[in-house]
Amino acid sequence: MRVSGKHLRSIELADDGWSCRIIDQRMLPHRLVHAKLCSLEEVARAISEMWVRGAPLIGVTAAYGLALAMRADCTDEALTEAHRVLFSTRPTAVNLRWALDRLTKALQTACPSDRESIAYKMASKLAEEDVRCCEAIGTHGLTLFEQILQKKSHSGPLRILTHCNAGWLATVDWGTALAPIYKAQAAGMDVHVFVDETRPRNQGASLTAWELVQQEVPHSIIVDNAGGHLMQHGLVDLCIVGSDRTTASGDVCNKIGTYLKALAAADNGVPFYAALPFSTIDWTIRDGLREIPIEERTPREVTHVRGRAHDGRFEEVAITPSESTARNFGFDVTPARLVGKIITERGIADANEESLAQLYREGGESS
Ligand code: MRU
Repeated sequence: MRVSGKHLRSIELADDGWSCRIIDQRMLPHRLVHAKLCSLEEVARAISEMWVRGAPLIGVTAAYGLALAMRADCTDEALTEAHRVLFSTRPTAVNLRWALDRLTKALQTACPSDRESIAYKMASKLAEEDVRCCEAIGTHGLTLFEQILQKKSHSGPLRILTHCNAGWLATVDWGTALAPIYKAQAAGMDVHVFVDETRPRNQGASLTAWELVQQEVPHSIIVDNAGGHLMQHGLVDLCIVGSDRTTASGDVCNKIGTYLKALAAADNGVPFYAALPFSTIDWTIRDGLREIPIEERTPREVTHVRGRAHDGRFEEVAITPSESTARNFGFDVTPARLVGKIITERGIADANEESLAQLYREGGESS
């Protein structure tokens, strides 16, 4: 995607050819700051503290983390330890496990002295694959947008509601839920995006909104509780979200609050779509509610908000009584029955086992 006329990716190999250059997403939308990750420990920290976040990007970053670990120490013990450290950074997004397992499997059978170069090659292949998948998701999603546009009774833009950030910052490029929006804009479609702020970390208000500003896509930020009201008043033509883990049966786990949007969409006859690459599908589970580990993060993200003060400094302020306790669940599961369609790089599936399996006959590998 372009930022101030320059093409940027959320992650890439730095000019030195071995360290990893990321965007420190904690600074957005106020500052575009790049950071260099030079070791396994730095990568693990960047993932767990959410300098990088979003399921596909977490997977690709972890792959580079393994490459950095192999650069420092290519023994079996170091490989096992790197897998353990990276795997423990964030529990819900299955792309992390998928990327780590894919690399580790290949590295275990390789001669230790080859491991570093194999890991870098695989990490870069994963990144390229993610870009291709996300662009294809955009193309397939656009066909759904076109169908809805033909049916809609009002004049004016196609009004799309999205939750959290499932844009290019959550992937390597393009995004998942935002990719069809970028394709629609490029095709000349008139769109307007309602952006859920997405408490507690506000990925919608800070990251999605920033992306849409950069791409000049018309949008309005709304508080998390507003979506139901907008849908009741016929102001939303479709909802589209990403996913951190989708079961083989089509249950969609995504940022906390997604389920409530799906309920409101079902109650108001608004199409509800999830956009995700194959690396987000967990073929080993069928019951999202019981089988997906839901990350619980520090209560401080609920009791405090962080932003830029008028003098330009970043500040964190308390918004709750200091005596109150808080719980901070990061994700929820939208049952398949509330998901209209699942948009993947392979095409569009219904949210059920048969339809997903039909798209991925050989059980999950896309390219
Ligand atoms: O906690 P985050 O910011 O990593 O959560 C991100 C989301 O929930 C996204 O919607 C999801 O990863 C899909 S992104 C392509």
